[in-house]
Amino acid sequence: MKLLVILTLLLSSALIAVSVGEPESKEKWIAPAAEAGKKNPVAANDSSLAVGQKIYLQRCVGCHGKTGKGDGPDAADLGIHPAKLSDAAVQQQTDGELFWKVTVGKKPMPNYRTRLSPTDRWNVINYLRTLARR
Ligand code: HEC
Repeated sequence: MKLLVILTLLLSSALIAVSVGEPESKEKWIAPAAEAGKKNPVAANDSSLAVGQKIYLQRCVGCHGKTGKGDGPDAADLGIHPAKLSDAAVQQQTDGELFWKVTVGKKPMPNYRTRLSPTDRWNVINYLRTLARR
């Protein structure tokens, strides 16, 4: 009986050690080089920005917030802070990198491979660039 207690104690402390020993994954989300080099074929003119803004306000604002600060109304429920799209860490990425991320998504962010046409994904990237100044 005593042995059983000792074994139980040993096992549970081992389990605690394991769960403490594994920090939450802080791995960065990095696009493949080939995707990062992709050129944006859509000029960031007024009509592209208008379409991009419309899509952003329909599809992205709930999580990323109006000015891209990651403070949209749905953000609190996610359990992970949505990226601050207005921050340098995002803005310094190439259009190709951002396009790839919007295309493939990353839980809890949906992928937009079929939800948005490629042109509309580029329109949204063009719009994201305007958030840098806010
Ligand atoms: C359900 C909430 C949600 C929606 C809707 C959403 N996102 Fe996200 N997005 C996230 C989260 C959370 C992350 C952070 C993912 C990570 O790094 O683990 C993210 C990350 C990103 C990134 C990568 C930023 C970086 O750090 O490199 C971009 C770009 C992005 N989102 C753009 C968009 C665009 C554009 C839309 C709309 C078409 C959109 N997102 C819709 C939650 C969302």
